[in-house]
Amino acid sequence: MSILKEKLREKIVAERPRTEKLLKEYGNVKVDEVTIGQIIGGMRDIKSLVTDISYLDPFEGIRFRGFTIPEVFEKLPKVVGSEMPSVEGFFYLLLTGDIPTEKEVAEVKAEFDSRKTVPSYVFDLLRAMPLDSHPMTMFATAIMCMQKDSIFAADYHKGLKKGNYWEAYYEDAMNLLAKLPEIAAFIYRLKYRDGKIIAADPKLDFGGNFAHMMGIDKPYDDVARMYFILHSDHESGNVSAHTGHLVASALSDMYYAISAMLNGLAGPLHGLANEEVLRWLHGVMDSMGGKVPTEDEIKAFVYKTLETGVIPGFGHAVLRKTDPRYTAQREFCLKHLPNDTLFKYVDLLYKVVPSILLEKGKAKNPWPNVDAQSGVIQWYYGVKEYEFYTVLFGVGRALGVCSNIIWARALGYPLERPKSLTTAMLEEVAFRKK
Ligand code: MLT
Repeated sequence: MSILKEKLREKIVAERPRTEKLLKEYGNVKVDEVTIGQIIGGMRDIKSLVTDISYLDPFEGIRFRGFTIPEVFEKLPKVVGSEMPSVEGFFYLLLTGDIPTEKEVAEVKAEFDSRKTVPSYVFDLLRAMPLDSHPMTMFATAIMCMQKDSIFAADYHKGLKKGNYWEAYYEDAMNLLAKLPEIAAFIYRLKYRDGKIIAADPKLDFGGNFAHMMGIDKPYDDVARMYFILHSDHESGNVSAHTGHLVASALSDMYYAISAMLNGLAGPLHGLANEEVLRWLHGVMDSMGGKVPTEDEIKAFVYKTLETGVIPGFGHAVLRKTDPRYTAQREFCLKHLPNDTLFKYVDLLYKVVPSILLEKGKAKNPWPNVDAQSGVIQWYYGVKEYEFYTVLFGVGRALGVCSNIIWARALGYPLERPKSLTTAMLEEVAFRKK
């Protein structure tokens, strides 16, 4: 058995009693009250999910397994010759909560290497799809068509015991994650580079191999690692993570769940937002004649925009400060592309937009989120096809969603099935209380 799986097994055995005790002895303890506004308003702030993979503090931002983004970058072993840690080591951290040694990282890489061959029927299917299909549609379809290989689906029908479900989900997760870089890069090259596919390089790590198959030189390998790590998880209430969790709670296997989570990610209110930010930024640049504006010019532009619309990339459902994923990418830009015109626009907007939004009372959170920066870096390194950006988000998000689903099965979380009320019932409660 692999080091990662063995480690995970130890952790699961240690963790299970905590969940069992909470359910058995404290099942009736109240955590929160729910308002009509929350019931109708997208269940905002209702504490009704549990995950130990990451936690989103509104004022601090995301912590992965208790570690802030700078801590993750600092503590995880780096890929030789790179600034960023490997995705393999990060996945080990997400799954186990422990910082891996170099040896443990190498073992995860070897695990992925042994599982990464994409079946040729996936490429045949992608080639058969209309070339103007959205890359997210192609990505979700590629994953869906491999469902026939699900170990969980096969073992379940052979009478797999509930306590062992997590193992089959783990095997499916490893098989699936290992293939994502090649599938994503294939879709990119098929759609946007005349179908000139670059073969995988078995020596390279997850992020390095992705950059290689995209056909983009260093430091794009670090961009890929950073991008996948930053987008991996944002606790479990966001649309993609929640969708994956919900679908898997029906014991739909990992292929169904990850494909479903990608469909949620493809919405403009979620993962597609990075594409919208970049399109908008280019519109701003065009309207300014391509030159870097002064602070007063950009302010005037922002005021004008707010008369009829919004500033994309600012605000967040949970966050009440600058998204640390934005900050991490900003630091990368300051180091690698400080003079890029598009970055200068983003930087100017960062300077002026929050105070204008506050002054106008326009947003609960006037600070930029991850999407305000990410497209700029992709564009700089030559990935100019906006609609592909969400695929990159999806590769990253799969790391977090797979980790969450494995743990959900390990701790025996049941089918998710909240209760609905009718509008008349809500009115009755509302009018009685007034
Ligand atoms: C995410 O990464 O999922 C987004 O920031 C959206 C969210 O957290 O709701």
